[in-house]
Amino acid sequence: MWVGANYSLTHQMQNTAFLRAYNIGHLEHYIPEHCLEEIWIIFPDPQLKKDRKKLTSTRFSKLYKKLLIPDGTIHLKTDSSELFKFTLEQIELYNLTILRQIDNVYADPSAPEELVDIHTYYEGLHVKKGRTIRYL
Ligand SMILES: C[S@@+](CC[C@H](N)C(=O)[O-])C[C@H]1O[C@@H](n2cnc3c(N)ncnc32)[C@H](O)[C@@H]1O
Repeated sequence: MWVGANYSLTHQMQNTAFLRAYNIGHLEHYIPEHCLEEIWIIFPDPQLKKDRKKLTSTRFSKLYKKLLIPDGTIHLKTDSSELFKFTLEQIELYNLTILRQIDNVYADPSAPEELVDIHTYYEGLHVKKGRTIRYL
């Protein structure tokens, strides 16, 4: 958090905020309704044992809907084939629209730059291990 805050101050960024919160389920206490254009879910713990804990499960989707503007977008980047498959099933179940699906980000030359150029800490680790990175 310190690294991020320091970077945003040094680069005089006007649209950053950092929130250290105990439970993502409480996000609506900190963010007003329908004010986000996009939500990025980057390498979440795939929570293989419990579907309700997955960040793309119904209870979280309901929360995202509350926070997003009507045409808002959710991005998922993951190395977990299980979470990716689960998310595709959820999308079908709730009749959501897939704007872009990339099954192997680093093998797809048409992948947008922002998906390839920006690495989080965990992404760096996964790429080093040669894991397949997926995007929805
Ligand atoms: C593998 S780390 C990825 C961190 C960072 N996004 C990155 O790419 O380097 C997963 C993060 O998701 C957070 N997280 C919190 N609640 C979660 C939930 N219900 N399901 C999955 N991940 C959750 C964990 O605390 C952890 O910081």
